Amino acid sequence: MKVFNTVDGLREDLIKDRLKGHRIGFVPTMGNLHEGHLALLTQAKLTNDVVVCSIFVNALQFGLNEDWDKYPRTYQEDCEKLREAGCDYLFHPDDTEMYPNGLDTQSRVICPVMTDVLCGASRPGHFEGVTTVVSKLFNIVQPDQAIFGVKDYQQLAVIRRMVEDLCLPIDIVSAPIHREIDGLAMSSRNRYITDQERPKVVVLKNTLYWVAEQIKAGSRDFVELETAAVNRIHGAGFNVDYFTCSNSKTLELASYDDTDITVLGAIFTDAARLIDNVTISNL
Ligand code: PAF
Repeated sequence: MKVFNTVDGLREDLIKDRLKGHRIGFVPTMGNLHEGHLALLTQAKLTNDVVVCSIFVNALQFGLNEDWDKYPRTYQEDCEKLREAGCDYLFHPDDTEMYPNGLDTQSRVICPVMTDVLCGASRPGHFEGVTTVVSKLFNIVQPDQAIFGVKDYQQLAVIRRMVEDLCLPIDIVSAPIHREIDGLAMSSRNRYITDQERPKVVVLKNTLYWVAEQIKAGSRDFVELETAAVNRIHGAGFNVDYFTCSNSKTLELASYDDTDITVLGAIFTDAARLIDNVTISNL
C-alpha cells in the first residue's frame, strides 16, 4: 500500500493509473476503521482495478460542542488493517493540505433542504462539512466509483443528490450495515457506550425492524408507528433525537404512496448519539 500525504503526490500516481485504463474505486473514511469500513474496501476491490482509501478527520463537519478533538485517531492500526484488506493507495492529508486557506474562508458545497432534517436538524452545518470535504476528495481522487455505508443513510442520500445535482461522473455505491452479534450497528462512536447501556442499545435496531415489519404488513399510519417506537425506546431508558419514516430518496416524510421507505432513528446514550436505519423497498 502506498501512502500519500499530499494532493500532488496522490495525483501523480493516479494519472499513471488512468493512462493504463485502470478503474479507480474510492472509500473515504475518518479512520478508526472497523469491519464495516473494511467491507467497503472489499466491495470496492470487486469492481475496480485500484482502490484508494482516505483517512481525514474533517473538522468542518463537527459542531463546536462535538467530539472532533476526542474523535479516535488510530492511524497505525488503520494502516495495518488497510494493508491486510488489500488497499492500494492511502490518502492521509493533514488539515493544512485539505484546507490551505483555513476553514473560515473555505468555499462550501451545500445540499439544501434534505440536510435540514434528521441528523441535520440536531447537527447544524454537519452535512455542509461532509458535502464540502467529499467534493474536495472527489476532485482530488477523481474516482470512477465511491463506496459509502448505509449506516449513515442520510449522508449517502445527500451525496447521491449532490453527485446528481453537480453532474459528477462518479458511481455512488452503497454497502450494507455491519452489525455486532446482537444487532448493534458498527460505529466508531460505539466506544462511548457504557457497560450498563450496552445490552440495552439494541432497542434502536429492534424498534426500527419492528416498524419496518408493520409497514410491510400494510400499516401506513406513520405518526402512530413513530409514537409507538419512541415509547419503546423511552421504555429502555434512552432519549430519542428522532424516529422517522421517510421517503428513501428525498428524505421527506413518508407518504401513503411511497414504494421505498426508510425508517431512521437516532438515540442518545449518556455520552453518545447512535444512529441506525432500515429500508423497505418495492412496497
Ligand atoms: O462517513 C464518514 O466517515 C465521513 O463523513 C466522510 C464521508 C469520510 C467525510 O468526512
